[in-house]
Amino acid sequence: MPVTIRRATIDDIICMQNANLHNLPENYMLKYYMYHILSWPEGSFVATTRDVDEPQMDQLSLEDGKGQETKLDPNYLAPGEKLVGYVLAKMNDDPDQQDQAPNGHITSLSVMRTYRRMGIAEKLMRQALFALREVYGAQFVSLHVRQSNRAALHLYADTLEFEVLSVEKSYYQDGEDAYAMKKVLKLDELHPKNFANRKMAEKLEDDFESDLLVV
Ligand code: ACO
Repeated sequence: MPVTIRRATIDDIICMQNANLHNLPENYMLKYYMYHILSWPEGSFVATTRDVDEPQMDQLSLEDGKGQETKLDPNYLAPGEKLVGYVLAKMNDDPDQQDQAPNGHITSLSVMRTYRRMGIAEKLMRQALFALREVYGAQFVSLHVRQSNRAALHLYADTLEFEVLSVEKSYYQDGEDAYAMKKVLKLDELHPKNFANRKMAEKLEDDFESDLLVV
């Protein structure tokens, strides 16, 4: 089951919103997705996969005979092509923060449950960080994450080396605090190809060590 990471387009936003509703309590109106994709079209990415079986044409839409189409399954971008993860990213356009160097923001990231722990979120994030730096000149990127979100904290703090800037009290609607995190973006370190075989390289090192004879 190969997974493709590609730039998000306006045609993906219904599926992105659907994934967001499945995976996170922080939800947004469709126009907010549209705002991201139209304003920073190279900043957001989706992960997709294809069904092994024949694509079902009615996954996408049904024509009602009067020229009206009804969208049926919001998991599907096209017959047989399913969205399994997304990262929604933007540049900071807060007029009160115009004195700062150009900087990006990760609005939302999620991967569908059955596709987790396969490295998809890391790949989505690395593509977005590289694009924010290379295309939009972001000098750093920020995000918020719940203090209780172990999976995301591991990804941000350990895998991607974000630093915690501050704790924002009662940031979320239910009263939970957020870590405000930041990563300085250095172009030469960010190229996704530098990380394409990260896991494999780690494995090779491990194999080498375990192959040594203990005497
Ligand atoms: N517990 C501990 N570590 C974890 C977990 C977990 N449950 N899940 C992933 N990790 C680690 C992986 O082991 C890997 O670490 P490594 O680099 O040391 O090997 C690292 O995190 C990256 O793993 P991926 O496989 O790339 O992550 P995945 O595709 O599973 O997605 C995510 C992680 C996005 C947090 C997923 O669990 C998810 O969608 N959760 C619900 C939505 C969510 O919390 N989104 C983030 C909110 S914050 C925001 O949107 C700005």
